[in-house]
Amino acid sequence: MSSLNQIPRRIILGPGPSSAHPRVLKALSSPVMGYLDPDYFSIIEEVEGLLKDTFKTSQRAFAIAGSGSAGMEAGFSSLLEEGDKILICENGHFCERMVLMAKRLKLNVLTLNVEWGTAIDPVQVNEILKQHNDVKMVSSIHAETSTGVMNPIKQISEISHQNGALFMVDCVTSLAGSEFRFDDWDIDYAYSGSQKCLASPPGLSPVAISNRALSTIEKRKTLPSSWYLDLSLIADYWGIEHKAHHTAPVNMIYGLRESLKLVFEEGLEVRWKRHKKLASALKKGLISMGLSLPINSKIALDQLTVIEIPDGVNDEEFRLNLLRKYLIEIGRGLGRFQGKIWRVGLMGESCVPANVFALLQAFEELLSQTGHEFKKGDSLATASKILSETSPLPY
Ligand SMILES: Cc1ncc(COP(=O)(O)O)c(C=O)c1O
Repeated sequence: MSSLNQIPRRIILGPGPSSAHPRVLKALSSPVMGYLDPDYFSIIEEVEGLLKDTFKTSQRAFAIAGSGSAGMEAGFSSLLEEGDKILICENGHFCERMVLMAKRLKLNVLTLNVEWGTAIDPVQVNEILKQHNDVKMVSSIHAETSTGVMNPIKQISEISHQNGALFMVDCVTSLAGSEFRFDDWDIDYAYSGSQKCLASPPGLSPVAISNRALSTIEKRKTLPSSWYLDLSLIADYWGIEHKAHHTAPVNMIYGLRESLKLVFEEGLEVRWKRHKKLASALKKGLISMGLSLPINSKIALDQLTVIEIPDGVNDEEFRLNLLRKYLIEIGRGLGRFQGKIWRVGLMGESCVPANVFALLQAFEELLSQTGHEFKKGDSLATASKILSETSPLPY
């Protein structure tokens, strides 16, 4: 078996993880502390404050030890009981994961299925909720990373509450990269991932939870099926009394703290704008290379661009060449989009002008070798024009 002694350098422009800032990597290697050490409590109190500001909430926020999927499972298993009815808005691979998880937890699952590549229509959510007045919770994904689509979360949240249901949202890909307002949008539970626009390594799921959702857990008739992912127990560890739960991943929390400090040194809203501006440069550069971006620009994500694979180009070979010759990772299509699209991420620390130009240059070289016809240099000039037209990037 071959071993890899040196971790290779990569320009990671896939759907996540994204690169971590050197300050985050340094923080990860700080000395280990006990998870019940009073000095460590000061650190998690600071992290809780920074997370609240990131989610834009004055309610509770903390981080679960586990990736984004742990945040997803914690929501279903803590907020609902066996047999409870849930409406899952389904328009992509990660929504399908929600359905699989909810079924394993023996929830009574209703789905609103819309075509991949399109957004959820809040009117249809309302119609289903009117037919089923016993739905306890609605769930949706803010930024669907498998299709590159942004869903109208604020409106879906409003309709859920009008119909007496809680609202849970996945903001794994959107948090710190696009506008997200937990309190203003009246969300009950939101979970994210450390590895995307927050620019930390994978392994933590930052979450926010409303007082209404916490009291729903308190009123449960049965205990949540998962002890480890019981949101009320994790909230108690992060709360004033710091009640012991599992051993916290202390070094990961040091890293998250550093990445959150970086968010506010830049400015949260400025960071949202950075993602928008660079996405525009990338997308217009790709279009000027003759590539097709199939997602309607009104609902297309900034942090993840979907590209239709041109006829005659071998998907795997192209991505492998990008990796081997240019050290650039991009994502393949998932599920029904496999072999049809590529997914290019510009998230957090990976979302910098140099990466836009590196990707466009590499695409130009590799595509021209496949016989795809376009004027060389145009994509870089287009991206450069867009970046210079706007005020300088605060980066
Ligand atoms: C929108 C979305 N939700 C959930 C997940 C699952 O997160 P994780 O892989 O961190 O468990 C991902 C991962 O890419 C995602 O993009």
